[in-house]
Amino acid sequence: MNNQNPIGIFDSGLGGLTVVKAIRNVLPSESIMYFGDTARVPYGNKSPELIKEYSQQIADFLLERGAKIIVVACNTATALALGTLQDKLDIPIIGVVRPGVESALKLTQNNRIGVIGTISTISSGVYETELKNSNHSINVTSTPCPLFVPLAEEGWLNEPATKLIAEKYLEPINKANIDTLILGCTHYPLLTKVIQEVVSSKIKLVDSAQAMAFETKELLVNYRLHNNQNKKGDLKLFVSDLPAKFETVASRFLGEKISNVEKIQLGRV
Ligand code: DGL
Repeated sequence: MNNQNPIGIFDSGLGGLTVVKAIRNVLPSESIMYFGDTARVPYGNKSPELIKEYSQQIADFLLERGAKIIVVACNTATALALGTLQDKLDIPIIGVVRPGVESALKLTQNNRIGVIGTISTISSGVYETELKNSNHSINVTSTPCPLFVPLAEEGWLNEPATKLIAEKYLEPINKANIDTLILGCTHYPLLTKVIQEVVSSKIKLVDSAQAMAFETKELLVNYRLHNNQNKKGDLKLFVSDLPAKFETVASRFLGEKISNVEKIQLGRV
């Protein structure tokens, strides 16, 4: 595998761009290829079988296009499909759950951690399992917040309605005496302000994008796959629907002009 090959990153839609942004900051000379499955988003309320099928199709596509490693930026896909992908593919694949878990374990002082995510991620119990595997005395309170995804997509980051919904969803979190809350969904970092307003100011929020970028760097170094070129890496974006809309949102998200988003249809929609 050539070191100049791109890192493949995927998400069910646009949320994984938080990971793209963090990786571009930490590893500026790496080229990135991103796939956002905009035709089939959301994954968060779909069956494990379908999430595995979609994730496999995307991983195969990224592999065909020369990805040297794959970063699963979607929490739901990581929760349901990472193990299968790691078993089947020959290149290193990492997911967004582990870095979030490690950051939370470093931050907590009272060993009480909260997790919020999509219905599929929370029902999979992946965060709870990983946290308890690392430290069996950790107490975990998890709750799904499904409406946070459409609210973030709609750009309703500070609306009164968003705050009301957050208050309702985060009731169990507020009662659980946690000191650390994992934002276990790509979209939730966009709602950090409202989430922090609703939970106690003493609760530290964990956004895994930054931790994911450092883990990606470590992986590339370990496998001697890092790109030492002296120029900024390329960024190529693919989506399964509405490329023009994605260009606008991605430009806003990444703070740079994005104009080459390509539409690719994978399997059934
Ligand atoms: N990307 C998904 C996640 O991180 C959120 C959006 C969806 O439900 O597909 O879980």
